[in-house]
Amino acid sequence: METAARADQQLAGRRILVTGGTRGIGRGIALAAARAGAHVVTCYRTPGDAVATLEHELAQTPGKHHVLRADVADESDVELLATACDTSLGGLDAVINNAGAFQPKPYQELDSAEWAATLQGNLTASHLVTRRTLPLLGSGASIVNIGSTVAFIGMDGGVHYTAVKSALVGMTRSLARELGPRGIRVNTLSPGRIATEALDELPQEVAERQRGIFSSFTALGRLGSVDEIAQVVLFLTSDHAAYITGQNIHVDGCV
Ligand SMILES: NC(=O)c1ccc[n+]([C@@H]2O[C@H](COP(=O)([O-])OP(=O)(O)OC[C@H]3O[C@@H](n4cnc5c(N)ncnc54)[C@H](OP(=O)(O)O)[C@@H]3O)[C@@H](O)[C@H]2O)c1
Repeated sequence: METAARADQQLAGRRILVTGGTRGIGRGIALAAARAGAHVVTCYRTPGDAVATLEHELAQTPGKHHVLRADVADESDVELLATACDTSLGGLDAVINNAGAFQPKPYQELDSAEWAATLQGNLTASHLVTRRTLPLLGSGASIVNIGSTVAFIGMDGGVHYTAVKSALVGMTRSLARELGPRGIRVNTLSPGRIATEALDELPQEVAERQRGIFSSFTALGRLGSVDEIAQVVLFLTSDHAAYITGQNIHVDGCV
């Protein structure tokens, strides 16, 4: 408890951009950061209940928060997003490249458009956001790229996805070298299978089967929670992690 309280003190007043914050892991990170006293900017593509409920929950926390419609795979939307961070918060202390999506498909059936979309929506999106927000980051700031444990173990139907998640690790390492002299840290956090609302939305039988299979892969015998990812992200953005950069942190229950 004492450590958590100290971490919260560290985050109070920090300005954090979390891409893709209306659902799943990004939503958990945005809410955990806001509850820890940070100012949060986050974005999404699809309007709906998830946006409205997030805005409502963020409004219950201290700090200035903004939930914006911006597709991070689109350079002009990234420009608007970064401008909004600058205008509303006067800069950023952390960027969490969380937004990402893919459709599983056997490699043989994967067409060029699907390959390109996976690249754009995951790797290039993280690059666009990172490059555009760099002028907003000062010494002590931190970037966290959300990767995936499957990049290290492989995945049937996930050649395109594991390729881009592996590339994020290399991007992180090189960025850490370039940005270290400016006092900016860059890390990847690679989650294992996390229980999100997307899993709950599957037909019950399918969801149960997936829970069973993915739980059996882990040493801990269960899926991770969104908050178990969010707390590590908050740690990585805090000064407690001041000497951690260029790393890939697995948060996967030991797959
Ligand atoms: N869940 C897992 O088990 C797991 C495991 C390993 C790694 N990850 C990684 O963790 C990250 C989050 O995954 P998740 O499962 O939480 O995803 P999710 O439940 O599908 O939520 C994704 C969030 O990101 C937003 N988003 C996606 N693409 C976007 C874009 N181009 N521009 C702006 N917003 C965008 C979505 O908003 P819209 O709905 O409006 O598009 C949504 O708010 C991803 O990078 C994923 O690869 C997840």
